[in-house]
Amino acid sequence: MTYESGKVDELLAGMSPAEKAGQLTQYFYFRLPPGAETEPALGLDVAEQPRAVEAALGRGEAGSLLFVTDPSEINRLQRLAVAGNPHGVPLLFGFDVIHGLRTIFPVPIAMAASWDPEIIERGQAVAGREARAVGIHWTFAPMVDIARDPRWGRIIEGAGEDPFLGAAVAAAQVRGFQSGGVIAGPKHFGGYGAALGGRDYDEVNLSDHELWNTYFPPFRAAVEAGAGNVMTAYMDLNGIPATASHWLFTEVLRELWGFDGFVVSDANAVRNLVTHGYARDLAEAGARAVTAGVDMEMAIGDPAYAHLPGAVSEEVLDTRARKVLEAKARLGLFDDPYVDEDRARETLADPAHRVAAREAARRSAVLLRNEGGLLPLAKSGSVAVLGPLADSRRDTLGPWVFDFDLDETVTVLDGIRDAAGNTATITYAPGIPVGQRTFPSMFDMFGRNAPADPEGFDAEAEFARAVEVAAAADVAVVVLGEWQNMIGEAASRSSLELPGRQLELLQAVVATGTPTVLLVMNGRPLDLRWAAEHVPAILDIWYPGTQGGAAVADLLFGDVSPSGKLPFTWPRTVGQIPMIYSHTVSHEPDNQARRYWDEESTPLFPFGHGLSYGRFAYRDLTIEQADGVATVAVEVANEAEREAAEVVQLYLHQRHGTASRPVRELKGFQRLVLPAGSSHRVEFTIGEEHRRYWNAAVRDWVLDAATFDVWVGGSSTAELGGTFSIDK
Ligand code: NOJ
Repeated sequence: MTYESGKVDELLAGMSPAEKAGQLTQYFYFRLPPGAETEPALGLDVAEQPRAVEAALGRGEAGSLLFVTDPSEINRLQRLAVAGNPHGVPLLFGFDVIHGLRTIFPVPIAMAASWDPEIIERGQAVAGREARAVGIHWTFAPMVDIARDPRWGRIIEGAGEDPFLGAAVAAAQVRGFQSGGVIAGPKHFGGYGAALGGRDYDEVNLSDHELWNTYFPPFRAAVEAGAGNVMTAYMDLNGIPATASHWLFTEVLRELWGFDGFVVSDANAVRNLVTHGYARDLAEAGARAVTAGVDMEMAIGDPAYAHLPGAVSEEVLDTRARKVLEAKARLGLFDDPYVDEDRARETLADPAHRVAAREAARRSAVLLRNEGGLLPLAKSGSVAVLGPLADSRRDTLGPWVFDFDLDETVTVLDGIRDAAGNTATITYAPGIPVGQRTFPSMFDMFGRNAPADPEGFDAEAEFARAVEVAAAADVAVVVLGEWQNMIGEAASRSSLELPGRQLELLQAVVATGTPTVLLVMNGRPLDLRWAAEHVPAILDIWYPGTQGGAAVADLLFGDVSPSGKLPFTWPRTVGQIPMIYSHTVSHEPDNQARRYWDEESTPLFPFGHGLSYGRFAYRDLTIEQADGVATVAVEVANEAEREAAEVVQLYLHQRHGTASRPVRELKGFQRLVLPAGSSHRVEFTIGEEHRRYWNAAVRDWVLDAATFDVWVGGSSTAELGGTFSIDK
């Protein structure tokens, strides 16, 4: 979008320091449902907060609001802002549009499991379009933090453990959101996913080697894809609060990567520079963040940036305010800051959005196990649908959604009934109360989060009934996992076990002898050691969104073949964490001493794993080299009698050099749809950008002359490989 820079110059020339600081301030605007309680930690007076924000609008001292999604409310607040600002500067409205606004897509980790930039981009374009239609200009997404510790609840918001996949997913999301009309804000720069012990907001200590090689690439990709915003992270990074890091926001982001947009702090992260024991007071907190390069403060309580006039030079205020005004100009807000409420309704109801959501849920499910080809199921006989999550609309959507429509949400039970209810007998029993939540979520304050059990739900009797229903059926489909509020922000866990009596229910169902399919609803790997031995079919459906149940039925009955692949290594037990596929060989890898004596050293399911109803053969791998670029080609055949999609993955290993390099690193992938009996030759190129890495000894990027191993296949354990050497 083009804009007139003259307009921004003119505004800046006429604005007072307080008005400039106002442009740098973003306020939460909470209208909580009646009776809702706020987190005491937010320190908010629910009644007073909207009044205080509206007073700031009246003084012309607010640049942005977040958490408003109703178009008429957005227009009302925008009118207040434009009237209150002596220069008529409109507000930017931001919101957490994480995996959809009204049409809810699978959670981000699920979208990443599609390994499909096309559907990821399409999904976020829908989200962006819906958001912009209601008047939201900017989303606090994508979260591109690498996560290697599934105890950390926010693993669900990212693309998993791998920087190459993470970078591709980040760029696709940025393209999608921004094509939908909203500014994308990759977050939380940087290293937030490496919280100590997986405890949210806890400190992070990462070597330069990990930052440059693993944690930064998705951010860089997001910036290169044109992201207009970046958000800071809450925690200390190597002893310095990330939100006050000049190195991150000025040296790396702007000077090195050429980022041209604006940076926002995470909520209250500037104020909390005092809590960290870093700044002595709010004025110093504001001054240090703004000079580090943080343009806008996201404030829940009193903003630290209100103290900026007098605490920093007007030149600093100008530089930062310019970024915010430029963003508004690029969005066209100086021409028309209001939203068309009728069009908003139409856009939110667009059936094409639901079609995309169903397709996304189909492509993101991962078939973890399918012994004896139990799946796909026939649409005949009797199917028992069991488990507390099978018919829970709220859980089907997953966390980080607020503007959803529960009535249109398709649960697994709904989906199965719609697909096979005319030809098969479908029975249902939850077995376990859905209201059984052991964890009070910070999001409960928004209401609509906790489904209730019917009056008089008798837990013991329901458990027994579920087992009876299973025994009477030809096949049992059991939906288990974590309730959606058990994962996400501030929802870390010290265990990966199925919460409550779910494993017991699964064991009782399997003991009936009825062939059993386990559907896992989750955003992190769970401890499925028992299931992986005793349950013939396991399909990871994540939190699949608005159309989730319909997509799951498509997969269960074989209308579509599963094609998702794990974006993380699935450990056997919490004690193995952290466990990644791209570790180095290190010392005596085959020595028993390097293992746990009480557990295997292998994962339950490897990174990149995911089965299919197709049967893929990989053969005839060739490598050609020219000018330092290796071209690897392989033939992939689908030997099954049905069409199926496969994600072909390429892994690279450098045998020797100026550092020890990982045993394997993902360096290419392609999703193919192969008709029955067909084959396709897939080609990958490995250039300098794939071989280059950040080296701790020379503290720079290096390219080693070395011999390289390469493998191509359907997971990180691919066996078909070859070798090539680079001389210089
Ligand atoms: C805090 C979270 O860390 C961040 O990801 C989110 O965008 C903001 N709150 C706003 O809700």
